[in-house]
Amino acid sequence: MKSILVTGCNRGIGLEFIRQLIALNKPPQHVLATVRQPEKAKDLQELARSNKSIRILKIDLKDLESYKGFSKEVEGIVGEDGLNVLVNNAGISSKFSRLQYVKAEQLEEHFLVNTIAPAMLTKALLPLIKAAATRSTSTPGASKGVVVNMSSILGSISSNTTGGLYPYRASKSALNAFTRSLSLEVKDDGIIALSLHPGWVKTDMGGPKAPLSAEESVSKILTTLASLEEKHNGQFIQYDGQEIPW
Ligand SMILES: NC(=O)c1ccc[n+]([C@@H]2O[C@H](COP(=O)([O-])OP(=O)(O)OC[C@H]3O[C@@H](n4cnc5c(N)ncnc54)[C@H](OP(=O)(O)O)[C@@H]3O)[C@@H](O)[C@H]2O)c1
Repeated sequence: MKSILVTGCNRGIGLEFIRQLIALNKPPQHVLATVRQPEKAKDLQELARSNKSIRILKIDLKDLESYKGFSKEVEGIVGEDGLNVLVNNAGISSKFSRLQYVKAEQLEEHFLVNTIAPAMLTKALLPLIKAAATRSTSTPGASKGVVVNMSSILGSISSNTTGGLYPYRASKSALNAFTRSLSLEVKDDGIIALSLHPGWVKTDMGGPKAPLSAEESVSKILTTLASLEEKHNGQFIQYDGQEIPW
């Protein structure tokens, strides 16, 4: 893979992604890391200081109007080679609550960040992903074109036996539905689109009781990413490549 763009890289899984990408045996030429406030992303800045392949890009994913300009900025970096991998990682989560406490604004915010933003960012960057896929002679996989939508097992409708978490669950289920339609649309371009559950991970979102560290989760995700093939298009998988129920 020549280029990869990951959203939400100032902390958590996104930051760990960047850390491990630059440490790969064959690191990508362009590692594009988006954050809302570059000046506050100290750990990421530190990584970028010692690694010139990292480009820190500023975007607030709620600002849908900025996506057109953002895609031009990405194009200016990756050029004709296009973008191989897009990881829609940034997300927000709500606390467990019963329906009587759920507010419309909460649902709106979750759908905006967890569903609409990844969908519209993919739309904005798809021409670059298609360009990369067209230029590559590889079989479908990370060296060609991949869209990873960071979903959650909590977005699995059939695994939902405990309820609650309405805004988060509904927004991730909707993201899964988007993934599936996208996978069918990009199939003939040799692009793989999938939903990925990173596991329950110790981050600000996952909390301290989570069984997986960000290091373990991302290390397995990168192994999974490297082994993707055509059959993975349209799948819902977890960090270690295991398929999980929609
Ligand atoms: N941790 C888990 O156990 C777990 C489990 C299943 C799925 N996931 C999914 O994995 C992904 C990463 O989770 P995480 O645990 O790393 O979460 P996290 O530590 O809470 O980090 C979330 C990231 O998303 C960014 N973000 C949120 N709203 C944004 C916006 N409007 N514009 C741009 N960036 C925004 C945050 O940036 P700011 O600092 O600027 O807010 C931050 O970088 C999420 O999609 C999450 O749903 C996590």
